[in-house]
Amino acid sequence: MNDICMPALSRRNFLTSLLATAVLPWATTSPGAAAPNVRQFRLRAATGTASLNPRSEQETGVWAYNKTVPGPELRVRQGDRLRIMVENGLAKETTVHWHGVRTPNAMDGVPHLTQRPIATGDSFAYEFDALDAGTFWYHPHQRSFEQVDRGLYGALVIEEANPIPVDRDLVWVLDDWRLTHQGDASDDFGHPHDAAHNGRMGNIVTINGQVPETFEVRRGERIRLRLINAANARIFGLDFRDHQPVVIALDGQPVTPHSQEAGRIVLGPAMRADIVLDCTGRPGERFTIEDTFYTGLEYNLLTIAYQDEPLREAVPDWPLELPANPLAEPDFANALRHEVLFTGGMMGAMVMQEMGLATASGGTVDGMGAMMRGGGIWLVNGVAAEGHVLEPMLALPRGKSCVLAMTNATAWHHPIHLHGHSFRVISRDGAPTSHREWRDTVLMAPRERIEIAFVADNPGDWMFHCHILEHQASGMTSVIRVA
Ligand code: C2O
Ligand code: CU
Repeated sequence: MNDICMPALSRRNFLTSLLATAVLPWATTSPGAAAPNVRQFRLRAATGTASLNPRSEQETGVWAYNKTVPGPELRVRQGDRLRIMVENGLAKETTVHWHGVRTPNAMDGVPHLTQRPIATGDSFAYEFDALDAGTFWYHPHQRSFEQVDRGLYGALVIEEANPIPVDRDLVWVLDDWRLTHQGDASDDFGHPHDAAHNGRMGNIVTINGQVPETFEVRRGERIRLRLINAANARIFGLDFRDHQPVVIALDGQPVTPHSQEAGRIVLGPAMRADIVLDCTGRPGERFTIEDTFYTGLEYNLLTIAYQDEPLREAVPDWPLELPANPLAEPDFANALRHEVLFTGGMMGAMVMQEMGLATASGGTVDGMGAMMRGGGIWLVNGVAAEGHVLEPMLALPRGKSCVLAMTNATAWHHPIHLHGHSFRVISRDGAPTSHREWRDTVLMAPRERIEIAFVADNPGDWMFHCHILEHQASGMTSVIRVA
């Protein structure tokens, strides 16, 4: 990791970041406040190759940050200031979005909305403070359905000032790839059939850029696993079977430690879970982790292999609870309420009929039909977004508490993501959630209704979209303005 930390910047980059700093009011420290610790990083996006499967000789052409898939793990401390110089060595325009991080709007990395795309050969200096501790990730927001899929993504870990004690703190970036027989990425990006169904599903699954085989652990060990789903479309449902992982954070935000029903951890695209895995097996034992999300398509993700030497006889009895992040608590008594209706996709008309919504705004758009007519496949409150310049769907007064009551009137799952904020998930189908968890991306099942609540305290125009990247690109995207 150290090779990407660049304390000695070249003169040109140094000047660029000075200039960037000078025009950003939030980057100036108020008198009396301790100057933040500045962490400098450099990310260069370029084409390269990766051997994704250790059992095959094949090399896959990828687009990568600093020549690795995933890109370098950026690890900082809560309260640090990040200064990240992104260089575009691709033949295409790009940007970087810091998923889940509450950055100032100008640092959010959305082309044409918060910045001009970074042209080939150009650089952009991103700078923001690490307000919240947690597990985040970064990825382009320009043609994401192609650029993320080709390998442009990486983990951003913001450590707590006093992290909970564990023996190992590891990141698993999950992804899948659609490879041809030759091992190349299949170039049918954004295919309309994928867009109208559940998105681009791959045919191999990787963890940290490698088809996984075994994960070696020792009896008595306590591991913090930071799971990140970087896939375009695949939802993971990880069943740890004989182990009982404890969920301690979701989308970077601490949650009351709890075990998932039947040990299954569900992660839609872009979602994260921090889990604590206590290794209770015996030396020499082996266990599998199975992905059971799609019925009929279950597979073994990897094998947990116990080494011969135990670390200790019993797992430690250390605290699991993470300190809360400084998020504003929504005030329900005075919250503004807005309805958000998601429609479209294959079989969408049928679902709307079933839900009694056939005449509501959104119309009865069936994916393939709409596509044939050249329209968007997915709609948010009746609008299928096209192009980059989006009129805000909602304007929220700065500082106001808001409840979004969302309805998924489609036949498909959608991980819905709001930029610039974290929100509490308040209810699902009318029933209060058990943990009122903070998230930045919430997975909606077909026909599900979910209420989320947050304080609109970060000014700017923020994307609000489905993180199945083919859905995002075919209409399921909108903008929420906080002013
Ligand atoms: Cu992970 Cu709009 O993005
Ligand atoms: Cu979607």
